[in-house]
Amino acid sequence: MDRIRIRGGRPLKGEIQVSGAKNAALPLMAAALLTDDALTLTNIPALADIATLSGLLAQLGVEQSSGTAADGTRSLTLHARQITSTRAPYDLVRKMRASVLVLGPLLAREGHAEVSLPGGCAIGTRPVDLHLKALELLGAEIELKDGYINARAPRGLRGAEIVFSKVSVGATENLLMAAALAKGTTRLLNAAREPEVVDLAECLVRMGAIIEGIGSDSLTIQGVPRLHGARHPVVADRIETGTYAMAAGITDGALELVGARLGHLRAVADVLEQTGVELSETNRGLLARRMNGRLHGVDVMTEPFPGFPTDLQAQYMAMMTTAEGASMITETIFENRFMHVPELTRMGASINVHGSSALVRGREGLTGAPVMATDLRASVSLVLAGLAAEGETVVSRVYHLDRGYERVEQKLAACGAEIERLKD
Ligand code: UD1
Repeated sequence: MDRIRIRGGRPLKGEIQVSGAKNAALPLMAAALLTDDALTLTNIPALADIATLSGLLAQLGVEQSSGTAADGTRSLTLHARQITSTRAPYDLVRKMRASVLVLGPLLAREGHAEVSLPGGCAIGTRPVDLHLKALELLGAEIELKDGYINARAPRGLRGAEIVFSKVSVGATENLLMAAALAKGTTRLLNAAREPEVVDLAECLVRMGAIIEGIGSDSLTIQGVPRLHGARHPVVADRIETGTYAMAAGITDGALELVGARLGHLRAVADVLEQTGVELSETNRGLLARRMNGRLHGVDVMTEPFPGFPTDLQAQYMAMMTTAEGASMITETIFENRFMHVPELTRMGASINVHGSSALVRGREGLTGAPVMATDLRASVSLVLAGLAAEGETVVSRVYHLDRGYERVEQKLAACGAEIERLKD
């Protein structure tokens, strides 16, 4: 298993090209199941999770070819001419929960699907009850058997009004895709409005879907009998952007994040500014720059978009370990998402967890240590801590990092970080 070695203490300076968002690319790839025409996605990031979904789609009969788009980004053409299987097996779903996003499209197009229940994962139980209840309201018959979701809609799906009891990105995406091919009108209330949900809705519209309210928490979908092919660029990754902005913050550096959009990071920019890190627009993206002096401790609570994202909580905590003063970080989206705390503590951080809140008492500096990645965002928080720490940090289990960060060590090294991958 690969490890990453970092010698910390160098301010990061330079520019980083932001990749396409993993969390947008995954539902967009699943949307290819909705049509027998080809869907071409550009700005596809090269990530392990993309390869995992690609493998699952291939098992379902989706032909795929990758190439290079005119703008130099990687493109992926997915062609679900004929769906040859409607079963998403345990070994793939277990690897990546987002595999459950094939459920809505398969059900809408084929009238049946068998998708393994994702089971637990490192950051909590993460059920799929909201997806299933909403699909039942569209007329699906759902049975849980032998660890699988068996869903059938023999007479097709019918539009309905769905009020989500909790904001869920994945459930909103699954329902958007299912409703696009349902008979009649579907209303999704208390829907997620993350930029990745917006990106999916915009792609579906390009494919011929009729959707109103895009970007709001109330979506109205007028079902159509068929969708067609399209070409769609994957939105820039706001989580990758926020991560590198915090890398500039924690190392007292300045990074231009090419392709990033401020509108997707307003809550983060507000918090960063209070800590002493400015995020300003340039004509190519955003400039993240530490202003004078030490970082200040600022409290944060994670929330659905447009609030502060849970996917940046671990990275923010790493930054706060070196701030002046204390900060209270409250996680409201996932339970058990503080697994980076013991690892940061091994690097000299002072953090006390009380239920869903962590009290971080900032210290003058961190010290390098061998640490272990536990999940995707936790692992990058250890990289950030390592970049700021004195001495050497070795992060093991970096396969977590490879699920969601494209060429992370190359991108950081090009901005002056002393970082290398150790192959085992
Ligand atoms: C997506 C993102 C993930 C991000 C999360 C929250 C992808 C591939 N992943 O995950 O990176 O951290 O949004 O922004 O886009 N819940 C239920 N029942 C359900 C579904 C969800 O109780 O049926 C709960 C979850 O346990 C969690 C909350 O709702 O507490 C939000 O989860 P959700 O928005 O669904 O996250 P994902 O779509 O899995």
